Amino acid sequence: MTTELTIHRPDDMHLHLRDGEMLKAVTPHTSADFGRAIIMPNLVPPVTTSEQARAYRDRIMATVPKDHAFETMMTLYLTEGTDASDVVAGAKEGLIKAVKLYPAGATTNSASGVRDVATVMPVLEKMAEIGLPLLVHGEVTTADIDIFDREKVFIETILDPLRQALPELRVVMEHITTKEGAQYAKEGNENLAATITTHHLIINRNHILVGGIKPHYYCLPVAKREEHRLALRAAATSGDARFFLGTDSAPHTTSTKENACGCAGIYSSLNTMSCLAHVFEEEGALDKLEAFASLNGAAFYGIAPNRGKTRLVKEESPVSYPETIAVGDETVTVFDPGFPLYWRVENLG
Ligand code: DOR
Ligand code: ZN
Repeated sequence: MTTELTIHRPDDMHLHLRDGEMLKAVTPHTSADFGRAIIMPNLVPPVTTSEQARAYRDRIMATVPKDHAFETMMTLYLTEGTDASDVVAGAKEGLIKAVKLYPAGATTNSASGVRDVATVMPVLEKMAEIGLPLLVHGEVTTADIDIFDREKVFIETILDPLRQALPELRVVMEHITTKEGAQYAKEGNENLAATITTHHLIINRNHILVGGIKPHYYCLPVAKREEHRLALRAAATSGDARFFLGTDSAPHTTSTKENACGCAGIYSSLNTMSCLAHVFEEEGALDKLEAFASLNGAAFYGIAPNRGKTRLVKEESPVSYPETIAVGDETVTVFDPGFPLYWRVENLG
């Protein structure tokens, strides 16, 4: 039985750090365990220009403890008014690593997102030309489509037509939650990849709805049936280079989640690596964890793996993580996988 595993320091290819007090509170938990992270731009107001991304990067870096080796990979929030030349300039400068497409109304702070993909085609064409990835929140938003079908319908009606129209565009299907999502990514060419969160490997929709409503398991895309969770596990643990870790760790204060209209988002940065080791061990795939968390994402973004190493050690008794972290006068509730965690994370620098 493997009780120790050393891998390249992982990257989180989909992360929400927010701003202000929240940013200060959460950054150190990511920078402790991850070498790099793709930073989501859905602030209020969103990060829509290179100049805003540069300023946000500086605010993030000011919250990274001095002894943590951490780099940001900034993204821009695509709107129907996005200036293609600014995107290109930001990418050429090395600041902007991707552009995020939120269908308007799909999730937290997505009101300025895209209503009609046709309007952003000139920007997407430029991105295809320079090889800048489009990160897609893949859910349709129309009221007539059931929330559990929104990913599948998005793939059929928006994503596939877009990829056919612009095959050179590099696309990441963010936080896939369905077997159809995993299958579509698997069938794609080298321009297509998909991130998978930690929590979607662990929870299905029963966790949210059975025995009382559990707001801390509510996120978007919402967790689906068990068969989908199993398909995601198979994809993540397969070693296939198209699948990599994006935690979608998305902190909201405990009070805004435990609320009559609770926010979507699960905060998992703190214990993600321990959770993943548990999942990969359960699947008999510990040897694939490095590909998923440290190698595949870097390869897709055309960067070398982190130089640092991370050792995962399986302890005899459970490792403890706090249930909440403090943010000003409030707290953020940490993802509870629902089972004890035995894998301790050691950052070897
Ligand atoms: O659950 C989610 N939370 N899904 C998203 O797409 C956005 C995120 C957030 O920003 O809170
Ligand atoms: Zn997200």
